Amino acid sequence: MSIIRGEFSSRFGFVMAASGSAVGLGNIWGFPTQAASNGGAAFLLVYLILAFTLAYPALMAELIIGRHAHANAVSALRLVSPNRLIGNIGALAGIAGLVVASLILSFYAIVAGWMIAFFFASIADLFGIEALSVWLISFSTLRNIMFMLIFMALNVGIISAGVQGGIERWSTRLMPVLLTTLALLVIYVFTLDGALEGLRVYLLPDFSQILSPGLIINALGSAFFSLSLGVGTMLIYGSYIKDNENLPVVGGMVTLLDVMIAVLAGFLVLPAMYVALHSGVEIFTDSGDLISEDTLIFTVLPELFYAMGVTGIIVSLIFFFLMSVAAVTSSISMLEVPVAYAIEERGIDRKIATFGVGCVIALISCCILLNFETFFSAVIIFTTRYSQPLLGFVFCIYAGWVWQRDLLLRELRKGNPNISEGLFWKIWPWYVRLVCPLIILAIFVQSIWG
Ligand code: TRP
Repeated sequence: MSIIRGEFSSRFGFVMAASGSAVGLGNIWGFPTQAASNGGAAFLLVYLILAFTLAYPALMAELIIGRHAHANAVSALRLVSPNRLIGNIGALAGIAGLVVASLILSFYAIVAGWMIAFFFASIADLFGIEALSVWLISFSTLRNIMFMLIFMALNVGIISAGVQGGIERWSTRLMPVLLTTLALLVIYVFTLDGALEGLRVYLLPDFSQILSPGLIINALGSAFFSLSLGVGTMLIYGSYIKDNENLPVVGGMVTLLDVMIAVLAGFLVLPAMYVALHSGVEIFTDSGDLISEDTLIFTVLPELFYAMGVTGIIVSLIFFFLMSVAAVTSSISMLEVPVAYAIEERGIDRKIATFGVGCVIALISCCILLNFETFFSAVIIFTTRYSQPLLGFVFCIYAGWVWQRDLLLRELRKGNPNISEGLFWKIWPWYVRLVCPLIILAIFVQSIWG
């Protein structure tokens, strides 16, 4: 059975789609809040080092395997294997990846639903409909399920339109909007009292924390999550890249954009916290640590917006719009993983596959929402702390050890005939072979024992 596969139409299209996948709630929410509670610039420094030395090589492993196979992770890992047994193990890892991608989407859709609800709450405020606004920002099962479903419907709509008509079209539209909105918010926040205090916390490193295992584990987790690694997302996006594209260069662009936007988001969120402090909002916990995670986004910032009156409503609207846009361009890349598998391995039509997979994931989200205390953080920890690094490790092993090196070089040469003389080919091969797997394992073991 032969299926005409989708393809990104240009380098710009791919870079927007892949950085759209990378830039999400992890950058704008996860990274700044983690930096805030992990020693500010110390975390930033470790994050930058890990992003370029570990996450970038792991990203390249996925992109190269994907582009070579022009197929989903399951068939791609089978294709690069020398025999049946190793091929089957690879296929199993590919299936694990699509299960993990679906589970990540099931909690991501819940959080993204909250962002959309807060966005609509600002609109309700603008029109003075207070009761609606209060309902929208209050935690209730009905609200949670409703907005998760709205968000999933958006995803299904985009992914069912295919690679160029859905993923590329929406990423190239939304990413420039996202960047502009973020930049405007950063500029605005710096005009407010207290912002410089936040900037100091962000940029003055607390080096006493830099070698703490907790910090390094969190930074690695952040970098892996942020670059969408370890579930086959980047592999499937890589499989839609044209053969004449220079992979190390486009991979580098995506990493750079992702890191830049995370760092830029830090310039928004940390100063905003201190602006909030300045206007009387509590930003420290009883033990003296900075408030972080959900309390920050859903309590501290809304209180700050509230204290700012009408301007606050507009800023809040823009902020939650930004969060919702960032979430959509990321989540479509998660949904594409199981959908591509269903299309290519099971021969199902794209529209039907997208709808079916979307329903299953929405159902999982409902189960999580109905047992929120038990499942919500458990699913996050299982997927992001354990599964992602382990599967990232497997992708590195397949790119570094399983796949024949001359075939790998041949794949890279398609986009750059002189690649074997460059720096990338001198460093990257032994890097994915030894350095990445060893460091991932070391940090992983540490995170289980620590
Ligand atoms: N990178 C996205 C973020 O920072 C999330 C994301 C998209 C993701 N696709 C993924 C995370 C695949 C893990 C795996 O929010």
